[in-house]
Amino acid sequence: MLFSTLCGFLVIGQTLAQSSTVDAYVASQSPLAKAGLLANIGPSGSKSMGAKSGIVVASPSNVNPDYLYTWTRDSALVFQTIIDQFSLSIDTSTRGEIDNYVAAQAIIQQVSNPSGTITTGGLGEPKFNIDETAFTGAWGRPQRDGPALRSIALITWANFLLTEGNTSYVTNTLWPLISNDLNYVAQNWNQSTFDLWEEVDSSSFFTTAIQHRGLRQGVQLANTIGQTSVVSSWTTQAGNLLCFLQSYWNTAGYITANTGGGRSGKDANTVLASIHTFDAAAGCDALTFQPCSDVALSNLLTYVTAFRSIYSINSGLANNVAAATGRYPEDSYMGGNPWYLTTLAVSEQLYDSLIVWNQQKSLNVTSLSLPFFQLFDASVTVGTYTSTSSTFTTLTTGVKTFADGFVATVAKYTPSSGSLSEQYSKSDGSPLSATDLTWSYAATLTSFDARAGVIPTSWGAKGLTSSCGISTGGGGGSSSGTVSVTFNVDATTVFGENIYICGSVDALQNWDPDTALILSAATYPIWSITVNLPASTQVQYKYIRKFGSSLTWESDPNDVINTPSGGSFIENDTWR
Ligand code: NOJ
Ligand code: NOJ
Repeated sequence: MLFSTLCGFLVIGQTLAQSSTVDAYVASQSPLAKAGLLANIGPSGSKSMGAKSGIVVASPSNVNPDYLYTWTRDSALVFQTIIDQFSLSIDTSTRGEIDNYVAAQAIIQQVSNPSGTITTGGLGEPKFNIDETAFTGAWGRPQRDGPALRSIALITWANFLLTEGNTSYVTNTLWPLISNDLNYVAQNWNQSTFDLWEEVDSSSFFTTAIQHRGLRQGVQLANTIGQTSVVSSWTTQAGNLLCFLQSYWNTAGYITANTGGGRSGKDANTVLASIHTFDAAAGCDALTFQPCSDVALSNLLTYVTAFRSIYSINSGLANNVAAATGRYPEDSYMGGNPWYLTTLAVSEQLYDSLIVWNQQKSLNVTSLSLPFFQLFDASVTVGTYTSTSSTFTTLTTGVKTFADGFVATVAKYTPSSGSLSEQYSKSDGSPLSATDLTWSYAATLTSFDARAGVIPTSWGAKGLTSSCGISTGGGGGSSSGTVSVTFNVDATTVFGENIYICGSVDALQNWDPDTALILSAATYPIWSITVNLPASTQVQYKYIRKFGSSLTWESDPNDVINTPSGGSFIENDTWR
């Protein structure tokens, strides 16, 4: 009794010590991160190396690795941070930089490049020279998250300006840029893309999630400023994206980051997607993989666990203690080390979760999120815990300590100058790879803001519905009585046309063509989808083509498969 009380005090003592260490780090690192970020923005940033006005240099490092380019993704995430802080009155000193960013993107959008011109796919080009000319070397292109991220940053800015009554600038200057990006998303989301790490050419969870958010916000802005011609097509494609998003969930209880790539699929891609689509108004919604949803928490646990045994700086750390994390466990780029921005992303997902639980004054433990919550209370059971319960206090205190631990990990391996490179060594924590990575600084600021309880503006995740639910049955292991079936169909389509499937069982929408499941064209002309079907069952199905409002069924007879009693199954078909 005395002993356990003592232990309790010791644990609380350690927690308090860590919390004040993190408080101190936040206080000292915030201004350094802001300064580090601004230093990499042209034309006058001290490390912007002559970049044009409003251009974000990924890192001033120009050799090993050479990051002296401007990526659409990094730039948008950096300006999302700046614009959020501006519009939430955290830092209103950056209006000039924001105006410069808008002007620079107006130029960059028009630059013909190896991915095409503005009308033929050029918006998917991942990076440009810092003088705003095209980069023409070999690269993993296209990367279709860039236009979506940029549209979200610009819409956030537009929404703020509307509160100031500046409708004309929004309509005349911002809307053309936003609609360029979102028309590109609406037309191309179902084509293959390189993932955010620029390596895997398939479909990618982060990209899909961001594209979905972009189109939803685009529809809202379009309605607000009367640009209604895009509303119907963007709404339709947003629905398709939300449906497709569900297909990344796997029966082992985590999100498979990419449809291709041949890896475990455990990847910071999914954690980043969750924090960059956070919408506190949506609560712990699982359909949009909100940070505190059971799917996202189960996924977070799987992701973090994947790094415990592969980095020696993590050795000896208990499962409920934060650890260094990287892009994905199979990573070998620059030796395959932890990244500051991915470790910070874990803390941010947890801080976002705490915001929602405290706001809704309750927390829900499901069978899927149980292993996550058991990290903080081994005896917790499935149920809903209101904020007056001791379980709520135990769990939220544990999550806060866990979250702070990820920041403390970054703090421990931040050099005294406060400079943040891209990676830190898996064996001794020393900084590695690109120096002063702008994205590392942005990730620092967004995590700190979430820790302080800052709530980004809602984007409309609340109340969305989809006919494409996911089977989370029990979590861990495949749910009993189902088999994972992949349907591949070789189908030549015209631009804008998509292939769907429906059939004789619930999982195939009981023959309802309106809610048929969309297939991915990532390996076009092979269209593909993986679904869980009842085991040992004869299932009939057909593929459907949809193009605008026209819908074409495959010719008769129905296709038939007999599912096996367990495991998985691949069905290869040709459209007829
Ligand atoms: C450079 C990319 O920026 C990086 O993400 C990737 O891991 C390496 N090339 C190796 O493909
Ligand atoms: C490599 C990263 O994998 C990619 O996501 C990033 O855009 C570039 N470096 C530039 O920072």
